[in-house]
Order: sequence, then structure tokens, then C-alpha cells
Amino acid sequence: MKKESKENDLMEKIVSLAKRRGFVFQGSEIYGGLAGTYDWGHFGVALKNNIKQNWWKKFVDSRRDMYGIDAAILMRQEVWQATGHVANFADPLDGKQFNTMLKTQVGAGEEATVSYLRPETAQGMFVNFKNTVDAFHPKLPFGMAQIGKAFRNEIAPRDFLFRQREFEQMEIEYFIRSVDWEKYFEYWRSEMLDWMQELGLDMGRVHELEVLDADRAHYSKRTIDFEFDFPFGRKELFGLAYRTDFDLKTHKLEYVDEENSEKIVPHVIEPSMGVDRAVLSLLISTYTEDEKDGEVRSYLKFKPNIAPVICAVSPLLKNKPELVEYANAKVYAPLKEEFGRVAWDDNGNIGKRYRRQDEIGTPFCIVVDFDTLTDDSVTVRDRDTGEQERIKVEDLKKYIKGKI
Ligand code: GAP
Repeated sequence: MKKESKENDLMEKIVSLAKRRGFVFQGSEIYGGLAGTYDWGHFGVALKNNIKQNWWKKFVDSRRDMYGIDAAILMRQEVWQATGHVANFADPLDGKQFNTMLKTQVGAGEEATVSYLRPETAQGMFVNFKNTVDAFHPKLPFGMAQIGKAFRNEIAPRDFLFRQREFEQMEIEYFIRSVDWEKYFEYWRSEMLDWMQELGLDMGRVHELEVLDADRAHYSKRTIDFEFDFPFGRKELFGLAYRTDFDLKTHKLEYVDEENSEKIVPHVIEPSMGVDRAVLSLLISTYTEDEKDGEVRSYLKFKPNIAPVICAVSPLLKNKPELVEYANAKVYAPLKEEFGRVAWDDNGNIGKRYRRQDEIGTPFCIVVDFDTLTDDSVTVRDRDTGEQERIKVEDLKKYIKGKI
């Protein structure tokens, strides 16, 4: 098959798997769908949560210089006037510029004012710069981090999760002294690459693009786009920008060094990552096909810490109460309590259950059979190799923890 049609094929398979297995559905589907919106099913929510938690752990919890925030989506329209979004956040449409911020109204009657659903999470951090400094007294350099929804009235939403009208961002604003900008730009570039690798992206598909002067956002002095070879072409996955002191100056904010009372306007390095593009690139990176027992099988090769389900528990036969009881009380219940992301699967024969769990990306399938009743051991099947091991029930938690 030609490379192009193989990639088209891959995209179709991923969209269909995502729906069939309960990851992602078209928004408002039963009314014909609302373009550029998607609804997340049980496994999609779990996958997104794992990605976001992993990001937060690396960039916030494991550091001493990062402050989290969860700002309101609605902000006063003055914020977007000051930043230039009202004037500049536009795409060309029929020779006109079309502003892609989603306008809304706050309040009723004559008191109503125009507002916008935020097109980036970034401004929620800048407008809380002073609050953060006053509350925590951080020393430069330090950062603010936020995960949340952003909205853009994209003229042509397309390519599944890639270009949506409602999506999520994970952003950092890292405040520095201007002389240090090149050093921290390089530092964040390598941190972002590390995270992509840790997530499990196919790094052979990741490329860096130095964005040219004419193509950069109005606030940026240097931008690198991390691009990804999506089946529909090489496109932006994440971005890293040097926003200078544009935003803090715009909002008339400054920083006072508590040691020497020096007043400065810090500069900003901004690593910006889309959750939905992270999910899409991860689905593309992990989707694998091989042949098992003369049949083609497809599976998602998620790392265990990212997989929506860590393990599935099955009684060999669902009409044998002794197997069901054992599996439920002695295997499923304690694992569920420990790991949460544990599935009960007794639907269809064992082969079908394995295929289903493979497509969900479950790294381990645990089967309780008749031998279990006498030897207190279960079969643990590895998703990638299909190999099976006998493990003592009392050692299961340790075994799975070791794999995570
Ligand atoms: N604060 C900077 C900023 O918002 P951006 O490059 O416009 O920069 C950052 O967006 C990231 O948000 C992108 O790299 C991408 O991952 C994600 N993103 C942007 N627009 C998107 C859309 N319409 N649908 C899904 N994700 C989007």
C-alpha cells in the first residue's frame, strides 16, 4: 500500500476505534453533530486525565518553582482588548478578517456586557500574576501552570481532534529576567521533548519548526512549533514561545525583588500544549497491528501509567458461580480498590475479551480459571507479546505496581 493511503487508512481506523471502544464521540451526534466539538467517553476521559495528571506531576508537583492556577473561562472584555486579541485574533475569510474568539454576553438587559470564551488559558495566568506574587512571594525565575478549556470559532474545524472549536490546553508561563531568555528557551525546549518521550509519542514523527518572523503571533519574538507527522500531514502539535514582557506590560504589571526592592517587568517563556492533540498523537503513535492466531489484531500500545485501564479481570466462564465469585471477591475488588482503573470483563469468550482489551490498550488481562480455585494463582496475559504467566493472587498488586 502507498504511504499516503496507508496513513489515510490509519486515521479511519483510529476514529472508528475511538468511537467503538468508548473514547471519543462526535459532539451533539444524535442531532447531526456540531462541527469542532467532541464528547469524551469513559476511556477517553481516563486517558485524558492520565495525560493531564502526568503533565501536572512533571511540571508542577515535582518542582519547587511552579504555581498552579485554575482561572475563570469568562474574563472582562478589557483583558482581550488590552492583549490585542479583539483586534488581531483573526483568520482570513473571503478577503475579510474573521475574529475567531467566541463572543458571549454576561448579565441581562441593559447591564449586559460583551465577553469572550477564552481563546487561550495563558491570560488567566497573566492577570493573576500579582495575586500569585503577593500570595507566595516567589523568586525569579518561577512559573505559573494551568490546564483548562479554550475556545476558538475555527472557520474550518477538521481532522478529528486536531482542530476543534472547544479544546483543552496545558500551559506554562515561565517568568525570567530578560537576559536569561535564550537559556530558558533551550531549557523548556528540552523539557517539552522529554515529556513527549515520557508520554510515549513516536519521536520519529516529531519535528521542530523555527517559526518565521512573518508567521509568529504578534506577542512573540521567537517561536518553535513542535510538529507531528499526522496521517493528514505534518502539523503543529505544541508550541514554545518567547513572549517577551508583552503581556505583563500590557496589563501594567511588574515584579519587585524583595531583596533589593528592584522593580522589573519579567519576560516570559511559554510552553503551550494541547491536550486533544496530545491524545490524537498518542493514539497515532500507539496504534499497532500484528497477527495473532492467524488473525490481524489491533491494539493501543499505551504505557501502563497512561493506559485508561491498567488491567482487566475475567472469570474463565461467566456461568460458573465459583469462578465468578472468586474473581470478583479475591481479584477484582482488591485490585479495583488499589488501582481504580481496573475493568471487569466477562463478555464473550476469552479470545474476544483479549481483542477488546487490546483495542482499549489494557496492558494486562487477568483470568481466573479452575486451577485458581486450588492453587490461588491466575493467568496474567501481556498485551504486547500475548505471553501468559501464572502469578499468585497475593502477589498481583506487587506485580502490577512493578510494571507501572
Ligand atoms: N498561549 C499560546 C497559544 O494559545 P497556540 O499555538 O495558538 O498558542 C497552543 O495554541 C496549543 O493549543 C497548540 O499547539 C495546540 O496543541 C492547541 N490548539 C490550538 N488550537 C487548537 C484547536 N483549534 N483544536 C485543538 N487544539 C488546539
